[in-house]
Amino acid sequence: MKKYHFAILFAIGLTASSCTTAEIPLEEDPDPITQTVTYVGDVKAIIDNNCTTCHGTVNPNAGLSLVTYQQVRNSAENGNLIPRMNNATSPMPPSGILPAATRAIIDKWRQDGFLEN
Ligand code: HEC
Repeated sequence: MKKYHFAILFAIGLTASSCTTAEIPLEEDPDPITQTVTYVGDVKAIIDNNCTTCHGTVNPNAGLSLVTYQQVRNSAENGNLIPRMNNATSPMPPSGILPAATRAIIDKWRQDGFLEN
């Protein structure tokens, strides 16, 4: 828990001090994810809670819908989903970069091959 707070402070400090579009590294994550990450089991809830108000089905922002597995996978695999979620100066969601532990789940999903189930 203590290290987790450090990660957030680190993220805030980086946001405040950086003028570039640097990505925040995930190395400070205190709890490496050991289990396999899947869209249905882990990723969908993160996207539903943080993204689909703007990236829904009707008139999505930036023309980007993140409602189905294929849409989220396509943006993560071929688009800007992962860089933007880790972008300190222009994060998605725009209200503020998500905790490192949450972003680490998306990164592990990529490592595991963008599994659906
Ligand atoms: C409050 C509304 C809002 C929320 C919530 C939001 N976005 Fe966005 N998103 C935007 C807007 C507006 C743009 C276009 C402007 C820009 O790129 O900054 C955008 C752009 C993007 C882009 C770039 C699209 C491109 O063509 O390159 C990606 C990727 C993205 N969002 C992913 C996400 C993800 C993933 C989440 C959740 C973790 C999220 N967004 C949450 C409003 C939002």
